[in-house]
Amino acid sequence: MAEEKVLVTGGAGYIGSHTVLELLEAGYVPVVVDNLHNAIRGAGGVPESLRRVEEVTGRTVEFEEADILDGAALRALFEKHHFTAVIHFAGLKAVGESVRRPLDYYRVNLTGTIQLLETMRAHGVRKLVFSSSATVYGAPRYLPLDEGHPVGGCTNPYGKSKFFIEEMVRDLCRAEEGWQAVLLRYFNPTGAHPSGRLGEDPQGIPNNLMPYVSQVAVGRREILSVFGNDYATEDGTGVRDYIHVVDLAKGHIAALGKLKENCGCKVYNLGTGTGYSVLQMVGAMEKASGKTIPYRVVARRDGDVAACYADPKLAEEELGWKAAFGLDKMCEDLWRWQKNNPHGFSATA
Ligand code: NAD
Ligand code: UFG
Repeated sequence: MAEEKVLVTGGAGYIGSHTVLELLEAGYVPVVVDNLHNAIRGAGGVPESLRRVEEVTGRTVEFEEADILDGAALRALFEKHHFTAVIHFAGLKAVGESVRRPLDYYRVNLTGTIQLLETMRAHGVRKLVFSSSATVYGAPRYLPLDEGHPVGGCTNPYGKSKFFIEEMVRDLCRAEEGWQAVLLRYFNPTGAHPSGRLGEDPQGIPNNLMPYVSQVAVGRREILSVFGNDYATEDGTGVRDYIHVVDLAKGHIAALGKLKENCGCKVYNLGTGTGYSVLQMVGAMEKASGKTIPYRVVARRDGDVAACYADPKLAEEELGWKAAFGLDKMCEDLWRWQKNNPHGFSATA
């Protein structure tokens, strides 16, 4: 394969760094742009996540510290490199924070994406893979969620920003020749690279279940709050479709393959198709870690749905992608990362 350079925005983050690793393994040349808003700076100013990717793969990763809102920096990057495609992860992602600071979310997620798309167009790069989310489905009207399920019923600015970007990209592909895009709707990414060197490193109190559970297992937090046990699910706790981050990362390589087919604008769920409850996840992490994970049941969290899981068939049919890893592997890899790196990428708390 001739050398294909791919711009990865937000490539120093959790999903981005795992994807950069898979891009390297697949023979692509990733170039990362990230403003380190949510990534730890390591030696020499390079994000620690990418330093670890280099360590694991034995390859170098080109990194540019810049904000996707900085038009001049983006233009300079596109002038320096000839990209064949862009994988766009950069953005803000905390649901609760988005309710408190809507304009920040719309500025970074929406304006940042517009800035990126305009820069791509100006440099003749019209292939995009975008990180969307199952949140665009809103409250499920039926399960499992297939790509034909109605979208747009989002209740928070974060979810709305994903929905708006999907619409924007779809309109652009319709309006202008030559654009191709794959919108990937992620379900619930968890786990870590099996090397134990790369994983999720949330700053502050984790918003999501699995980072919280693993921090309780490692002794960084005392007790898990389970948000409600009166949902109409098997044990009353919320059910989600957890997917190993390495499977998710590989989905992006499959999406790049699709873009080579002049596919127009496509949308795919990336999930396993199986839902697990909060208590099942706690049990699986107890098994993987050999630790007891204390929890208490508290009130439901605003905006949460009872159950959310994917029909992942379309990605299998059209991308040739299917999640390979199950619950035990997700928890084993998550635990290896958490145990070896109790403070994430920082040496101390
Ligand atoms: P993350 O926060 O670890 O990664 C995002 C990266 O983008 C960070 O490294 C951050 O520093 C960078 N960034 C933020 N604003 C930027 C800006 N203005 N300019 C340049 N870089 C910027 O998050 P993640 O979990 O890896 O998520 C990646 C993408 O996937 C996001 O778009 C997120 O919304 C989406 N997503 C995540 C989940 C999930 O549960 N993790 C689920 C669905 C969708
Ligand atoms: N939960 C707890 N305690 C916690 C955290 C979560 O009980 O401390 C429960 C939630 O109530 C839910 C389940 O664990 O039932 C999963 O919650 P997460 O916050 O891990 O994940 P969500 O499904 O709520 O959110 C994820 C992504 C969002 C995305 C959303 C919708 O993190 O970015 O899916 O697809 F918007």
